[in-house]
Amino acid sequence: MKNMYDKARESVKYIESKMNLKPKIAVILGSGLGDLAGVIENKEYINYKDIPNFPKSTVVGHEGRLVLGEIKGVTVLAMQGRFHYFEGYTMKEVAYPVFVMKLLGIEKLIVTNACGGINTSFSPGTLMIITDFINLVSDNPLIGINDERFGPRFPDMSEPYKLELIDKAKKVADEIGVEYREGVYAGFMGPYYETAAEIRAIGGQGADAVGMSTVPETIAANYLGIEVLGISCITNMATGIQKQKHSHARVIEIAKKASVDFCRWVAKIIEDIG
Ligand code: HPA
Repeated sequence: MKNMYDKARESVKYIESKMNLKPKIAVILGSGLGDLAGVIENKEYINYKDIPNFPKSTVVGHEGRLVLGEIKGVTVLAMQGRFHYFEGYTMKEVAYPVFVMKLLGIEKLIVTNACGGINTSFSPGTLMIITDFINLVSDNPLIGINDERFGPRFPDMSEPYKLELIDKAKKVADEIGVEYREGVYAGFMGPYYETAAEIRAIGGQGADAVGMSTVPETIAANYLGIEVLGISCITNMATGIQKQKHSHARVIEIAKKASVDFCRWVAKIIEDIG
């Protein structure tokens, strides 16, 4: 049986055979935030289903392809569609693309998502810089025998979202007039929207927002020595805080509305850090 390192190398070999560019920055696009791909110039697409050893995406609103190209002259690799634990993938599969990114030479990763707001000063449409995470899934992508070629057995997680990148994101937002907030993202397993009691409990423990993604990729990237910036779009207030029931369609609708500012912001951040 092939180990993950060899599998990732196979994926990389295929991706490199399809692209002429050498990206150092990658973006994982969350639900409803795939429009960023529209800002990418000289695009090339690689469908996940064509990449050896890549998992396949199943969620509505997730396209399942890599988009390679340039934003303001900076080469980027965007993932349009990600893998979730609730789809039945293992954590290693969920984070697999990040391991591939490492071998492709990616140095900085922007992770994005649609999520629920717990902090009552947020409202649907708020863009939030993620300052830290709480992993509420009793699993993570680093469980198992460690391969030192990827990273250390016991990785540091004291700055999961790089302060330098957070500062740059804030500076850029101020320059271009994008409003943002900051907060801690709690990653639940899903796929159900949390209960009101779960939200009260985790809100009391310091979470500002809640979602079902992002944490595994953040853990893997830190382990691999890739710097991470996290940006959330609050698409609804979490259970018990908002009166109406949740719907995925509404999540996508709000994310799409917010994606105008989101795209402007992320494009400028990429120009700044590229
Ligand atoms: N909870 C979990 N995930 C989410 C939510 C939520 O309220 N909104 C969008 N993704």
